[in-house]
Amino acid sequence: MEQTLILIKPDAMQRGLAFEILSRLERRGLRLAGLRLLQVERSMAEKHYAEHEGKPFFTGLVTYITSSPIIAAVFEGTSAVNAARQTIGSTNPTESSPGTIRGDFGLEIGRNLIHGSDSVESATREIAIFFEGQPVIQWEKDTDKWVFE
Ligand code: RTP
Ligand code: MG
Repeated sequence: MEQTLILIKPDAMQRGLAFEILSRLERRGLRLAGLRLLQVERSMAEKHYAEHEGKPFFTGLVTYITSSPIIAAVFEGTSAVNAARQTIGSTNPTESSPGTIRGDFGLEIGRNLIHGSDSVESATREIAIFFEGQPVIQWEKDTDKWVFE
């Protein structure tokens, strides 16, 4: 089944919103397949955000994501990448619809609470970065048949 990498960013951790946010993805029907609490080192942040290297916000982005422990999670399900991005909302919280995570909890692009992979290829690359040496769990929930036809 399709997988996506979710990061609960430092602002969400500091504001005590981590499990509220994870709960929204869980209640959407996505199945949790991996979970880690970790402090992101600079090298890991630069690898994860390599596509943004050289952009004006890159240094601030690396400082932000390394500023506090985060939670990394793998969720899986039908169209997991797009479903999670839809629940997350737009990159800029003030352009996110109410009802989305960023639309309900955020105000600024540099404090947008959560990361979600933008493609299946990105998810594979990012899961390898955050779950290196720690396999995700293959399992099925008894309720899956009520979510996945
Ligand atoms: P993410 O990767 O964190 O899920 O966010 P995204 O796909 O919606 O946005 P992306 O373009 O990948 O940007 C990564 C993160 O960089 C910060 N950002 N700041 N100041 C700016 O113009 C700016 N643009 C992007 C945001 O924290 C964004 O989530
Ligand atoms: Mg992105």
